[in-house]
Amino acid sequence: MPAVLYETRDRIAFITLNRPEVLNAFNREMHQQLREAWLAFREDESAWVAVVTGAGDRAFSAGADVKEMGQRREEPVRRSFWETWFGDDLQTGLDVWKPTIAAVNGYCLGEGLTLILACDFRIVSERASFGFPEVNLGIPTIVGAIRAPHVVGLGNALELLLIGDRVDAKRAYEMGLAQRVVPHDSVRAEAETLARRLCRNGPLAVRCTKEMAYRGLQLPFPDAVRMGESLRRVATSSEDAREGPRAFRENREPQFKGR
Ligand code: COA
Repeated sequence: MPAVLYETRDRIAFITLNRPEVLNAFNREMHQQLREAWLAFREDESAWVAVVTGAGDRAFSAGADVKEMGQRREEPVRRSFWETWFGDDLQTGLDVWKPTIAAVNGYCLGEGLTLILACDFRIVSERASFGFPEVNLGIPTIVGAIRAPHVVGLGNALELLLIGDRVDAKRAYEMGLAQRVVPHDSVRAEAETLARRLCRNGPLAVRCTKEMAYRGLQLPFPDAVRMGESLRRVATSSEDAREGPRAFRENREPQFKGR
């Protein structure tokens, strides 16, 4: 069985971490296949929104495969000694401007937590729990430490990162980590409902706005506005930007095409 499943239905890409026997822990194959899935989603014109979840009933992902950890030789240094930025998967900054939703159906630990921090929406089961247990194993968390403060604030991030205990869905909601806590059996359906809602909006406008929201966190304000206004010109020259106001005048639902 593949370690990651990728399927599309009605403009939604469903990405499933698929090692339920080890609570969807990340091994090398899963890393590789997840990277390929995000690239497939990014390039697929027919997919407008992605939902990522874990196979089975107990876990989104229990983080890095701890059994694999001491067993494989360290990868040969594939970059310079002092790491260069690699950004080749979603967590480390692959450019994906289509919206992404995590449907968190259970344990969400370590790298699993880093992955949902890189998603735009987090719909979580009331049975889900969250944590960065890396420090308990004597290893540091890097990308999670970079991402978590943006989502939950520095204090909450440090609580997760430095203590390493798990928090439940209620605490995750209080922190702003979970946007919605839902009954366990409906977590994927709720994520799909949100995906369908997003698909009713103009996809180019959504992507442009998402990119601005993220880039705006990093750019000086004048540069962000200049970039955004340039993007606006491109986006408003699209067919979709004409279709939206036309549909409003004709009192009907717009038929967006992503063009
Ligand atoms: N890597 C490899 N295998 C893992 C794993 C991981 N991160 N997490 C769970 N598994 C495996 C277990 O070894 C077990 O396999 P087995 O049936 O062959 O013994 C199976 O998944 C089920 O897990 P189990 O521990 O029996 O479930 P549980 O409900 O008692 O506990 C956890 C769940 C998540 C609390 C516990 O599995 C755990 O602490 N996992 C490690 C989390 C971790 O440290 N992640 C690394 C972050 S860097």
